[in-house]
Amino acid sequence: MADEDRSFQHFLYHLILPVVFVYLIWELSRDQRETLRKKIVAFVTAKTTAKMNKFLEKKKDKLFHSLSEFLEAQPSGGILLEIGAGSGANFHYYPKCCTVLCLELNNEFEGYLEESAQKYLKAKYGGIIVADAQNMKVI
Ligand SMILES: C[S@@+](CC[C@H](N)C(=O)[O-])C[C@H]1O[C@@H](n2cnc3c(N)ncnc32)[C@H](O)[C@@H]1O
Repeated sequence: MADEDRSFQHFLYHLILPVVFVYLIWELSRDQRETLRKKIVAFVTAKTTAKMNKFLEKKKDKLFHSLSEFLEAQPSGGILLEIGAGSGANFHYYPKCCTVLCLELNNEFEGYLEESAQKYLKAKYGGIIVADAQNMKVI
């Protein structure tokens, strides 16, 4: 490749493309930017869940052990509410006790929660309620 071509490619990748990208983001409305932010957060969280769970394995095992014992001792048919469920990283730890209902601010987690419920949840999945934990009137 000629030096000229190489410097044009360099110019394109390192200056023009980032400028176009920033311009496109800038042109989005406030709502579109918020949706994009939520999608990115949900995607990144979901993709890193397995690694984070592995990293926190000992701590989570310890934390969820007593919760599991408590839940298993309860009469069946109850509802467990997980506040800030994210992509369902804790589903793996709940016993076959009850119905797990998820309260989550970011609606973009919905699909990831369904996927995690199918893969890891022994209990019944009760779905997602998109709401702020600071105002749980909806519950
Ligand atoms: C660090 S993640 C934890 C995910 C998962 N529960 C876990 O233990 O790995 C925190 C989650 O809480 C949600 N969240 C933060 N503030 C919230 C609020 N006020 N109401 C409902 N959900 C909230 C975030 O959207 C995020 O998905």
